[in-house]
Formats: sequence, C-alpha cells, structure tokens
Amino acid sequence: MRIVMIGSGYVGLVSGVCFADFGHTVVCVDKDAAKIDALKTGRVPIFEPGLEDLLAKNVRDGRLSFTTEMKEAVAAADAVFIAVGTPSRRGDGHADLTYVYGAAREIAEAVDGFTVVVTKSTVPVGTGDEVERIMAEANPAADVAVVSNPEFLREGAAISDFKRPDRIVVGSDDERAVEVMREIYRPLYLNAAPLFFTTRRTAELIKYAANAFLAMKITFINEIADLCEQVGADVQQVARGIGTDNRIGAKFLHAGPGYGGSCFPKDTNALVKTAQDHGSPIRLIETTVAVNETRKRAMGRKIIQASGGSVRGKTIAILGLTFKPNTDDMRDAPSLSIIQTLQDAGASIRAYDPEGMDQAKPLLADVAFCSSPYEAARGAEVVAIVTEWDQFRALDFARLKTEVAEPVLVDLRNVYPPDEVLRHGFRYTGVGR
Ligand code: UDX
Repeated sequence: MRIVMIGSGYVGLVSGVCFADFGHTVVCVDKDAAKIDALKTGRVPIFEPGLEDLLAKNVRDGRLSFTTEMKEAVAAADAVFIAVGTPSRRGDGHADLTYVYGAAREIAEAVDGFTVVVTKSTVPVGTGDEVERIMAEANPAADVAVVSNPEFLREGAAISDFKRPDRIVVGSDDERAVEVMREIYRPLYLNAAPLFFTTRRTAELIKYAANAFLAMKITFINEIADLCEQVGADVQQVARGIGTDNRIGAKFLHAGPGYGGSCFPKDTNALVKTAQDHGSPIRLIETTVAVNETRKRAMGRKIIQASGGSVRGKTIAILGLTFKPNTDDMRDAPSLSIIQTLQDAGASIRAYDPEGMDQAKPLLADVAFCSSPYEAARGAEVVAIVTEWDQFRALDFARLKTEVAEPVLVDLRNVYPPDEVLRHGFRYTGVGR
C-alpha cells in the first residue's frame, strides 16, 4: 500500500515508521521544513526508544521518505492519514481542529482516484463528518472515504504498542475503505491482533472513552492512596488486592503525583466538553479532571510537610521532571505544579532529569539544572522522586547522604520499599503507605 502520513509529530512519525516497517511505502509530510530536513538526515526530533534505528532502516530500504509538499504524494496514495496536532483550545478546553480541517482541505485538492482518508489524530465525535463535508466542498469530484482509526500509543513504548496492539479500531461503513484498512493492518492481523470495525462516530468515541477510563482509574487509586495514609493502610497492597480481580485489572493502579502528558489531560477535558454540549455530562470525568488538578499542588505540599511544614529558604532536589519515564515530554508534567508550589513557599529548587531538561528549561524559572541526581541533591533538605526513571531505582544512598543537608526522601512514585530507605538513615515519605 502507498501511505501518506500528514503530520510528522509523535503519532505521525511512529505510525509512519511502523507502517513502512510492515512493508508499505510511506511518505511523511510536515509543514515544518526544519523538521523534515532533520528527518531526511536521520535525526528524530522526539525521544522515543528504538525509533531512530527503525527509521534509518526503512529509509535505507527505500520504503520511507519525508517531504514538505503533500500534493504529489497524496495523488499517488491509497490512504492518507491525518496525524496533526489537536491541542486544547485556549479558553474553553475543546480540541482545536484547525490543523485537521486545514489538512482535509489540502488533501481534497490533491487526491487522484479513490483514496481513504484516515483521522489518526484524536478528534471529538462527529469530526469525521465535518472532514467529509470540508473535502466535498473543497473538491466535489474527490473520491474519498473518511475513516476514523484512533491510536493507543504510550510514549516510551510506542513502537511495541504499535506492533503488538491490544486491538485496532477502524470506524467506517465504506466497504472499499474497510478493504484498504484490512490490507494496511494485514501484518498485525496475521499476528492475531483483533481488528475491530465500528461506525466512525463509535471509533471516535472509543478513543476518548479509553483515555478517560484510564485517567479515572489512576485518579481512583490516587484517592484511595490518600485514604490509606489516613487509616494506616498500604495502597500498593490495595492495588494488588483489587487488581488481581480480572474484572478490575492490575494495570494503571499505580498511585502517584497525578497523571500528565499529551493525552490524558487534553482528552479528558475534551470529553467533558463534548458530553456537556450534548446535554449528557459525564460527572465521573469532570471530577477526575478536578481531582487530578488539585493533586499536583497537593504533592508539593506533601514535600513541604516532609520537611517539617516549611521550606522557606530551603533547597529541594527534584529527581525527574518529565510526566513519565522514557520520554522527554514535559506537557502537563506534575513536576511543573509541584515545583511552582515549592517556589511559592520560598524553596530553592535543584533538578535533574535524564532526558527532559532541554524541554523543561524554558518552562521553569529559577531552577538550578544539574547533571546527576547526586549533584541535584547537594545541600538539599528534601530529595523528591517525581518521575520513576530507572536510574532513580538504584540510587547510591551512601553517596546521596554525603551530598544532602538533611536525609529526607519523598518518593512520589513509590519506587522504594520504605524499609530499605530507612535502613540507609533517610526519613521516608511515599504515596499511600
Ligand atoms: C496515554 C495512553 O496510555 C495511550 O493509550 C494514549 O494513546 C495516549 O495517552 P501516555 O500519555 O504516553 O499514553 O502515557 P501513560 O503511560 O498512559 O501515562 C499517562 C500518565 O498517567 C503519566 O503521567 C503516568 O505517570 C500516569 N500513570 C499511569 C499513573 O500515575 N499511574 C499509573 O498506574 C499509570
């Protein structure tokens, strides 16, 4: 199949590279000439384990190329994927669809022969209808079928998520389009990954419902963690105790500082808006959004508490800035609110992150960025683990102790068994235990 990927951001790039690796011919398009130039020389503008190698291999084999001009590629394509950004619109929290609609218009003008147009970007229910309308308006002769095919990729594990998905959701009632989509995903289909066909609107909603459910699950265990602290129970054991029930499931029950990232915050907000607009508010998700928002600052207060109730004039070391490990993504990272809360309370911040510092620097004023966890700990009255990078799982506590002003560890990801930390002479505060 000849595939064009419009938008070479996170989703577009991972999907494009993986489709090429399946054996399809893929052209990745982006308006950002600097990004395309970088990609042409094999440089990947995002941090995603394994992506650079897979990209290089498929470029070498002649299946993958990059361009800023979509016209020629679209004319030759069997399927054109729209994988442009859908950020939260300033002010009202709705998804901003300007880029999606802009791409639809340009694609309509360039198609030649029957072409499947696939929205991969996360878009509110009904967007496919609007894309179809825009395309018909831009080029009434265009022979296209608009399909919804949401992605469920986790940053840091995107390639394996793409190649070994739990399911592939395809929303379309056009038989020709369904055939093309079957062909595109054939390599996975042969691996017995379930290909799930629905109407377009249902597929669009599945994506939001999945993300909202996961965000709710995390928020649920976070509130149980708070209760555990009050009643003297252990949230890790509660999570195990409920997660082994198949109806509940063990994943996404890890208590922490609240969810962040490029998807959950944006998608929960967008679902809340859509539901309200249709007179069918989803109060569980409204509450999830509100609880998660307050949680981030509450984690800052937890650190203050661990330091005896005041951090004025004190130095706090923050280990981990990205919203989760194995990414350099700082979008909606809890660290941002936590650091702000500590600075508002008069603390000086020293911080270290293995991959996220370049992204973090423009977002964080008056923070001393350090080159290792030990340098960050220098003179600190509290060391706080905010992101569970592997390299924080085996800290040299003896060395850490020589650096800090006070041996206090706040472990917002429950990386360590409390006993182990206490044995090294540190005071320990975790989450929900
Ligand atoms: C998520 C979805 O998992 C993915 O399917 C969708 O396509 C995009 O959004 P991602 O944002 O990359 O992926 O990260 P994910 O691993 O899901 O984590 C999201 C946030 O939840 C992180 O801040 C993480 O720290 C937090 N989290 C996750 C928890 O606090 N506890 C958990 O048990 C799981």
